[in-house]
Amino acid sequence: MQIPQGVKNRGLIEFVHEMAQVCQPDHIQWCSDSREEYEKLCQKLVDKGTFTALDPEKWPGCFACNSDPSDVARVEDRTYICSRRKEDAGPTNNWEDPHKMKAKLKELFRNSMRGRTMYVIPYCMGPLGSPLSKIGVQVTDSEYVVVNMHIMTRMGDAVLDMLGDRGEFVKCLHSVGAPLEPGQEDVTWPCNPTTKYIVHYPEDRAIASYGSGYGGNALLGKKCLALRIASVMAKEEGWLAEHMLILGVEDPKGRKTYVAAAFPSACGKTNFAMMIPPGEMKGWKVTTVGDDIAWIRPGKGGRLYAINPEYGYFGVAPGTNAKTNPNAMATISKNTIFTNVGVTPDGDVWWEGLTREPPPGVVNWQGQVHDPASGKPVAHPNARFTAPASQCPSIDPNWEDPEGVPIHAFIFGGRRSTVVPLLYQSFNWSYGVYLGATLGSEMTAAAFGEIGKVRRDPFAMLPFCGYHMGDYFNHWLQFGRNLRNPTRIFGVNWFRKDEQGNFLWPGFGQNMRILKWIVQRVRGEVSAIESPIGWMPKYEDIDWEGLDFPRDQYDVLMDVDREAWKKEILTHEELFSKMFDKIPKEFFFMRELMLSALWRSPEHWQLEPE
Ligand code: OXD
Ligand code: MN
Repeated sequence: MQIPQGVKNRGLIEFVHEMAQVCQPDHIQWCSDSREEYEKLCQKLVDKGTFTALDPEKWPGCFACNSDPSDVARVEDRTYICSRRKEDAGPTNNWEDPHKMKAKLKELFRNSMRGRTMYVIPYCMGPLGSPLSKIGVQVTDSEYVVVNMHIMTRMGDAVLDMLGDRGEFVKCLHSVGAPLEPGQEDVTWPCNPTTKYIVHYPEDRAIASYGSGYGGNALLGKKCLALRIASVMAKEEGWLAEHMLILGVEDPKGRKTYVAAAFPSACGKTNFAMMIPPGEMKGWKVTTVGDDIAWIRPGKGGRLYAINPEYGYFGVAPGTNAKTNPNAMATISKNTIFTNVGVTPDGDVWWEGLTREPPPGVVNWQGQVHDPASGKPVAHPNARFTAPASQCPSIDPNWEDPEGVPIHAFIFGGRRSTVVPLLYQSFNWSYGVYLGATLGSEMTAAAFGEIGKVRRDPFAMLPFCGYHMGDYFNHWLQFGRNLRNPTRIFGVNWFRKDEQGNFLWPGFGQNMRILKWIVQRVRGEVSAIESPIGWMPKYEDIDWEGLDFPRDQYDVLMDVDREAWKKEILTHEELFSKMFDKIPKEFFFMRELMLSALWRSPEHWQLEPE
């Protein structure tokens, strides 16, 4: 194996050597961050028929591709946390004994890269040189993964420099699990249609992913390192690795307030992170630090500081358009990779929600000309764009600050058509942790269960916490105990519906009105009303300039129905009983306190001024 000059780290050389021994690739290529390498690999993907170059006038530097129908999303049932002890993975993760898993995977990975090139990607999650950043090295036999990693991470020589000769890194092994016999022609989306494993060894700081080339299964810096492995590091080192967007709110005086918000998958995190406030709210501006992951630590002045470990967006395309997210549309207008969207014969792309009607002749994500009568969608519902964060018009000027940005508020929200009001603030940190722990969202994809049913997704971390969820709750509580001035915590729900099934709240840019109240609360500029579940805004304290939103509609949206909330709180029991041995004792007291407050409150909570 030829080792490039810049590679000095013995651990890295050993890792790559060992992986090559097992996987037996035909070639090994050490990756850099050069544009030339990126373009060459994109061309290779075009030559293989994987990528289609889009119209260079309309979509400069953009490509589209379709995955195999067996490989379209994260595979939660094939995802494992192989900690040494089963109880450290907890009841919400799949677990297997690490020795057994390693033996099983060794057989799968043996010769798995035959006929292919093994690419070595040194990458950094977080700004280069930041004390908050972490380094990973991924070996992969997928060119698609390499070009996506070019966009999603900082990679190459600068990372090798940061690693030095003794630095630690997370070992990431990835193979699509589709070796080629001599002379065998490749398919456009190699993967293993029957066998997939996404495996994490938290104690070894190692990840092994087999059989899938898609998104979070294959771009190992994202969910695998930046959430599952990082959450374990964060617990040990006293910080937080969260499934949160980070945004900045600038007020008309130019004062900046940063918030971090956790929403389960498919709740519009990217839209919220890039929101454009309504024109009537003059002088208010939202800037984007990140749309999916936040690493948060106590810093200067006893405050929390956060970085976005990612370098790009891997966003859901369907539903994105010039109205729902103009900043995303601008971000993806060049140098973007589209996966599983529709493509027109003249090199344009389309997905459900982009415009009202699909363009004539559009070819769907399965490569067939779209037949409107078929009832089949043009784009897969989990179709994605991969785009550089730096192209986002709302990118925050401090998004690469190695120290991170100061966080003034946490927001938790799910998709709930009933029960949960538009906006409330938890009484204190512990209540906020309870709020996050009991976060629920209605399912939008059958893959995760019955559509419309509430799935508990604590802190939006259910698929991403690399250790026992009960220990994770305790870590959050302990983290707050150590803060001099704990960050305020808010709950939101953009998705409440009326009895006819219509959304009660317009959402998108109008969410700025909610953010404004949050910012004012954090600054102590506005009072609130006490309800059994927390502090709530008065109608007159929300900025309604330019939006006709009558008080009676507001009352419905903010209603805390006593009976519904009693039932809601009782359903928390189901989650708690799953991890009874590790549930913080505070949670039981808080639940009882909330129940008792509901018992003495009027039937419907009255939002009357103090
Ligand atoms: C994502 C997810 O892809 O949360 O970001 O599923
Ligand atoms: Mn996510």
